[in-house]
Parts: sequence; C-alpha cells; structure tokens
Amino acid sequence: MDSFSIVDAQGDVLHTADGRTLIDLFTAHGTVWLGHRHPDVRDALQRQLDKVWITGGYATPMVQEMRAAMNGFLPEGYLLASLASTGMEANEQALRIARTLTARNGAVGFAGAMHGKSFFTAALGWDNGDGLAIPQVHRVPCGRGVDEAQTLAEAGVRLRRGGIAAIFVEPVHATSFGWEGGPVFYQALSALAAQHGALLVYDEVLTGFHRTGPSFCFLQHGVRPDIIVFGKACGNGFPVAGVAVRDGIAIAPRMLLGSTFSNNALAAAAVKATLSCLRALEPEARVRAIESTVQQQLLPALAEGPIVLSGKGAMWILTFPTAEQAAACARAVLGAGVCIGFHNRQLRLLPPVTIAPANLRLACQKIAECCMLVS
Ligand SMILES: Cc1ncc(COP(=O)(O)O)c(C=O)c1O
Repeated sequence: MDSFSIVDAQGDVLHTADGRTLIDLFTAHGTVWLGHRHPDVRDALQRQLDKVWITGGYATPMVQEMRAAMNGFLPEGYLLASLASTGMEANEQALRIARTLTARNGAVGFAGAMHGKSFFTAALGWDNGDGLAIPQVHRVPCGRGVDEAQTLAEAGVRLRRGGIAAIFVEPVHATSFGWEGGPVFYQALSALAAQHGALLVYDEVLTGFHRTGPSFCFLQHGVRPDIIVFGKACGNGFPVAGVAVRDGIAIAPRMLLGSTFSNNALAAAAVKATLSCLRALEPEARVRAIESTVQQQLLPALAEGPIVLSGKGAMWILTFPTAEQAAACARAVLGAGVCIGFHNRQLRLLPPVTIAPANLRLACQKIAECCMLVS
C-alpha cells in the first residue's frame, strides 16, 4: 500500500509529509468524530493539562463534571459505571459486571463481531487461528448466508444449557460486511436473554454517539440492553472508552472496574468537551445528510456490479468479491486523495460528523470512480 506520513490533521483533512492533502473518511478507526484537532476539545485538554492529569482513582472535579455530562447524554434509565482506556478494556469490564451479578462464567457472542483483541473479547467474534479456544465463550454462527432464525436458535441452545452471564452484541458488524439483523431479531434475543437470566450487552464502541443516527444504535433495535459499552468517538481521539449500566444494576468494588489509567482527569476533559460539542451540532440531522450523500453518490455507480454497499448513517462498508480488488481499490482511492479504512475484502467509510458536504461529495465521487475501475 501507498506509504505516506501524516504531518498535520485539521477537521476532515489530512496533510502528508510529501505535500498531499487527503479527505479523511477513516478518522482513525472512527475516533475523530468531531474532526481532527477540534478547538473545543483541544482547549479543554489544554486547560486540564494545567491543572491535574491523573490521580489514580482519587476524586477530581473534572471526573465529577464528566460523569454528570455523560449521565445527561445517556438515554433515560442508564448511568455511567466507569471509564476505561480502550474498547477492549470496557468490554472486559462489562463481562466482569455480568459475571459478578449472575455468578456465571459463560458468554455468548456472534461470529464476525468485533469487541477487541484480548483473548476473551476476540473469541466472542472470531477465531484467533491459534487452535486455542476459551471454553466459556460460545460463538454463534451469524452474518451473511446464515439465517437470523438459525442464529437465534443457536443462541437459545447455548442459553438453555445454562451458565451464561452475558450476550454480547455488536449492533452493526462493521468489520464483517456491515451485517445487521432486523429489529425483531434483537428483540427476540433480548427476550431470550431475560428469560435465561443473562445480561444483554450492547457494544456501541463504533455505533455510539450518533454514528447511526440516534445517540445509540440500540434505540433503533427497540431493545433496552443491561449494559452499554462505548469508546472511540467519546473522546474525539483521546484514548478513552467506558461502560454504562441500566438503572438497578449496582456497581460493586468486587467487580474491579478500575485500572491504572481509567477515569483519569485528562480523558474526562476530552469526554466532557466532546459531549458538549456534539450536543450543539444537531448530529442526527448531520448524520441523515451524510447517509443520503453516500447513497446518492455511490449506489448508482455500484448498481448491478459485484461491489456491495452496506451500513447506515455515517458508517458504510464496501464489500468486494476478492481481497485483491479491495486492495487495488483502496490504493486507487488513496491515490485520488481520500483516506479510507480497508481490511480483507472490505473498505470502510467513517466520515466525521462535521465533514464539509462538498468534501463528502467529492470523496464519494472519487470512491465511485475507483470502484468502477476495479470491478
Ligand atoms: C465494535 C467494537 N468494539 C470494540 C472494539 C475494540 O476497541 P479498542 O480497539 O479501543 O480496544 C472495536 C475496535 O475496532 C470495535 O469496533
């Protein structure tokens, strides 16, 4: 792949050492949701840098303020449990909460879902390829080519056998062809979890903070998870993630939610500033506009071709027939001045919510041209 080094990033644009300008539809795996170097987040971090960075769990005003801001942002009936440094760590915390509450060991995940790269979080969605399994993790077949009813039935079998503390859901499989079930699937899953005393965990690390429209994607599924895991966008690029729980779940010290860097004041400043900017932006309208531009620009170019566009809101996946075609297209797109994410047979578009409409249109036109070249 084309190698370049990024020396400057501002808003929706990256500048490389060799003088190129790229429109950023990658945003560092979807983290820089408000755009690079957002002035309000930068100023909040700078102010906090002059006060206190980290206290190892001792109280700071900033963590208290962030907690109030997050509790105000979360859908009614949810409260922040803890911040973590990565999405993976936050998912591990969710498991700890579920295991402690249920006194059970097991977890159910869905093939193709991404929850992180620790042994537990990886095993929920994919095979590490090392021949080693974690017996308490039950990965259910899921995705394109698998009937939703079959996925549900398999989840039901695992739950009926007992010992399941939690079911982990990635609401849109953003690293696995953009798969998403219908609302009825998630509602049935939620009912199954409740029937068998397992907690429903929604991993909104990528979909949270309006990426798909509403504040969290579970609101589009018509379910009320017990635990919400979030990350990426919540600090606009500052490394921070977290866990929220529904009313009635009491966080206890034996859940061991802390770690060295969790709940530090700098991360809290980034989260508080990000939430306040997001609130002022009317993100749902912006996400709707992004969705219609992506569809208008890309769907005609892909019609009846072999490349499939899936996703919604500000989160789109292009799936190619082969990894070689996807790599060729990614090279061409980068060469045409657009930064995208790519992996295996997929290209992933995660534009910032603040993207200039003209830049989004131009970037999509370039992507459409490159798709036509390789298909
Ligand atoms: C849905 C989802 N959950 C969890 C993670 C893991 O987050 P992190 O890389 O911050 O550990 C990712 C990362 O891509 C993700 O997309």
